[in-house]
Amino acid sequence: MTIRSVVVGLGHYLPQRVVPNSEFEATLDTSDEWIKSRSGIERRHFAAEGETTSDLATKAAQNALAQAGLTANDLDAIVLATSTADLTFPSAATMVQAALGMTRGFAFDVQAVCAGFIYALANANALIVSGQARRIMVIGAETFSRIMDWSDRSTCVLFGDGAGAVILEAQDGTGDKSDRGILSVDLNSDGQHRDILYVDGGVSTQTTGFLRMQGKEVFRHAVEKLAQTATQAMDKAGIASDEIDWIVPHQANIRIIQGTAKKLGLSMDHVVVTVQDHGNTSAASIPLALSVGAERGQISRGDVVVTEAIGGGLAWGAVVIRW
Ligand code: ACO
Repeated sequence: MTIRSVVVGLGHYLPQRVVPNSEFEATLDTSDEWIKSRSGIERRHFAAEGETTSDLATKAAQNALAQAGLTANDLDAIVLATSTADLTFPSAATMVQAALGMTRGFAFDVQAVCAGFIYALANANALIVSGQARRIMVIGAETFSRIMDWSDRSTCVLFGDGAGAVILEAQDGTGDKSDRGILSVDLNSDGQHRDILYVDGGVSTQTTGFLRMQGKEVFRHAVEKLAQTATQAMDKAGIASDEIDWIVPHQANIRIIQGTAKKLGLSMDHVVVTVQDHGNTSAASIPLALSVGAERGQISRGDVVVTEAIGGGLAWGAVVIRW
């Protein structure tokens, strides 16, 4: 018998304030047309003053618990992916634990930037298959609006705030690819590419910093590495591309999403796309897209879902899940 991590709940939360591309035209030399044609982004949500990453994460987690018909103390753990935690410590995950009223189990953050949710899923899956937890809330939550340089038009128009949550539960499987749950994981990083995507500040340098990016370079790595990691994860699961029902990619740029789907030999009819409404929400983008995709009726029980992401590090990876 094989233990599988099966998705039993989904939820998301987006801050109330919606910012259309046109809002940037007042302060930057940019246009709705440029942003839309280069990135596919039309609008994004920004957190209100004082609204933190753990606030967004808590609301997404509450929505996932409600959808699954569970309470916080039904969880054994919370794994939260973020690069924009409220404080240096404690972790945003323990803040969510307290806000949910969860008085048992354990909680911790994972930081792998835009690939953070993939890394969090991998961690949660490892805890479940090794028998250390039976039910885990996996969250991606970010307030990237806090690390934007509002005078840099090549970055600040691309990102947004939000949170998504997935509840994984241990269920018995056969070890076959027909099992529901996580079928495979593929993780990668290469620290040599630090300078193409980073924040130029942090605790140890006693600065806050802003996101800096060489967009063209990131783009070049993204399509190639995303297709590669998705293929590796599919190979590990024994899944061929014609068995994939949905790709749920990191939502950074529609051109990256289209390029990756093409390399994988899949039409855009098999891709969940939310980048037009959310912008790039880093670690929150995949759980947001999963939750919105399920709400739209795109993802249903038994479907094979491939999630893939790349971000600062560079760090990248993919997870194959049978829904
Ligand atoms: N409005 C108008 N013009 C702009 C803007 C803007 N907001 N931003 C940049 N430009 C200008 C540039 O200054 C440049 O002008 P120049 O030719 O006079 O120097 C021109 O537009 C072209 O810029 P490029 O960088 O060549 O534009 P490109 O087509 O590469 O698109 C983009 C830029 C959208 C950043 C693209 O490179 C990209 O999406 N890269 C991937 C980055 C990404 O998604 N990162 C997210 C984090 S990592 C991840 O999640 C995958």
